[in-house]
Amino acid sequence: MMTLQERIEQLKRERNAVILAHYYTEGEVQDVADFVGDSLALSQRAATTDADVILFAGVHFMGETAKILSPGKTVLMPDMAAGCSLADSCRADEFAAFVAAHPGHTVISYVNTTAEVKALTDIVCTSSNAVQIVESLPADEPILFGPDRNLGNYIRNVTGRENMIVWDGACHVHEEFSLEKILALKAEYPQAKILTHPECKRPIVLVSDYVGSTAGLLKFATEDRSTDTYIVVTEPGVLHQMRKAAPDKRFIPAPPTDSTCGCNNCNFMKLITLQKMADALERMEPQIVIAEEVRAKAERSIRRMLEISQRLGLV
Ligand code: 13P
Ligand code: SF4
Repeated sequence: MMTLQERIEQLKRERNAVILAHYYTEGEVQDVADFVGDSLALSQRAATTDADVILFAGVHFMGETAKILSPGKTVLMPDMAAGCSLADSCRADEFAAFVAAHPGHTVISYVNTTAEVKALTDIVCTSSNAVQIVESLPADEPILFGPDRNLGNYIRNVTGRENMIVWDGACHVHEEFSLEKILALKAEYPQAKILTHPECKRPIVLVSDYVGSTAGLLKFATEDRSTDTYIVVTEPGVLHQMRKAAPDKRFIPAPPTDSTCGCNNCNFMKLITLQKMADALERMEPQIVIAEEVRAKAERSIRRMLEISQRLGLV
């Protein structure tokens, strides 16, 4: 009798598949992946893999990004219901009207968007490179940024760009963190550093010692030598890699306002299970399918991001 991990390993070899996983998935899911990363690193892996099949242990927009970049490959999603509240906060028809209402603006979209929204975009960005992508444009260039209002405001504050109009979307997980509870934890552990994802609200960003993407938070937490305790203000799946990389340090997940709701967990990411991954590899479905016209337009905006990131040495 094989374990699920052994079955996945066997199917992976048979299908010439690669498993890409995001840091917010369950620890056991991350542990069977060939590569675990943030959105930027995952999109880069998807663009360069020579596997025939990509099994995406993450949410739908990540699988779509892989398919956009590797149209000749089969991209499997273990659960098609693994969506993203932030991507859902930006419908393509409404975004098209927003773009049409602001001619002459460069459209920058966060990677947490549908393929259709990426097709309306000039340059995609992730939380790893958003500030640098904006700064790569001339200082007076008018910009439309979507869909995350918190990331957009963070970029505006860091870069000082006033000519940036931000879409009013948000992630239900990152909006839920409680400043009061984070400050209470800080009072309990005064030596702790507060590490925060830029999808969080501004008052939390303001009390943070470091703000960055999931990969940035992981790098900071493992390389920093100034303390051994960290309050981590993002989805707690990332603590799995932090604890593996720095077992002697203490990582405390930041609590949401309602401690009983579990809403600091991304319920979409947690839909990905080992059983569903094995089933997807066995049946070779469900697969990501994107209309070629949309895919080709979306690819342009993602490639622009990858080119700028490469030029700036970010990937
Ligand atoms: P990262 O790009 O930092 O991994 O973030 C992805 C995401 O969905 C955050 O909620
Ligand atoms: Fe989307 Fe938020 Fe989940 Fe990230 S944590 S995948 S932004 S719902």
